[in-house]
Amino acid sequence: MTEMRRLIAGNWKMNGVGSALTEAEALAEALKAGPAAMRVALCPPATLIERLARTVEGSAVEVGGQDCRAEASGAFTGDVAAAMLADAGAGLVILGHSERRSFHGETDADVAAKVGAALAAGLEPIVCVGETLEQREAGQAVTVVQAQVAGSLPDALIGKAFAVAYEPVWAIGTGLTPTVEQIEEVHRAVRAAMVERLGETARKAPILYGGSVKPSNAAEILNTPEVGGALVGGASLKAADFLGIIRAA
Ligand code: 13P
Repeated sequence: MTEMRRLIAGNWKMNGVGSALTEAEALAEALKAGPAAMRVALCPPATLIERLARTVEGSAVEVGGQDCRAEASGAFTGDVAAAMLADAGAGLVILGHSERRSFHGETDADVAAKVGAALAAGLEPIVCVGETLEQREAGQAVTVVQAQVAGSLPDALIGKAFAVAYEPVWAIGTGLTPTVEQIEEVHRAVRAAMVERLGETARKAPILYGGSVKPSNAAEILNTPEVGGALVGGASLKAADFLGIIRAA
């Protein structure tokens, strides 16, 4: 396992057809000209993974999926297995995103099973946690994310490369962000829960912040203690915006 390197990952969510590959191409070209100090990844819809992987081949841009099924294969219409993502060219996979948890009812146990499948396929998981506005207002942000960490990270992660992403649900796509003090508080709590769950090797895994990250707030967020990178939604769709975040880091 290598030392922790900061990771800036773009989550395109359900956005983008073939024409969006020009943005990936522009990003790859820009990073060739001026390499970033950290790892950079794009996680497009599954239909674009293979083409995007070809587009950025030879550049520093890594490729990830947005979800996988826990089972390796079978009668699961519409779902994608971890090995299929890897076969298409992905090296990473986002798991347990709040949109999966809310729209697809994914539990911590479901997420943990998917993490196991991802590791078995050689993928590096990015496991998402985060509280709702209601939970934050009730003073439960730390306990909620610590419980999600405890339930979503299986033993199989010990000694493996992975990341956790703290994405407060109320900050996703809203333009709202926590204060840096709030981000630091939760990231420290996430770290403590990771170490409790997996032991000291969990200190090597970066904790990404996600939720309305943009070029104008990236430097402040990325320089907060225990922030090991960012998971970026809307601002990763355009190469210029995403580069603004990468350059600010
Ligand atoms: P936004 O950056 O659009 O708020 O999305 C964050 C996110 O959900 C990334 O996974």
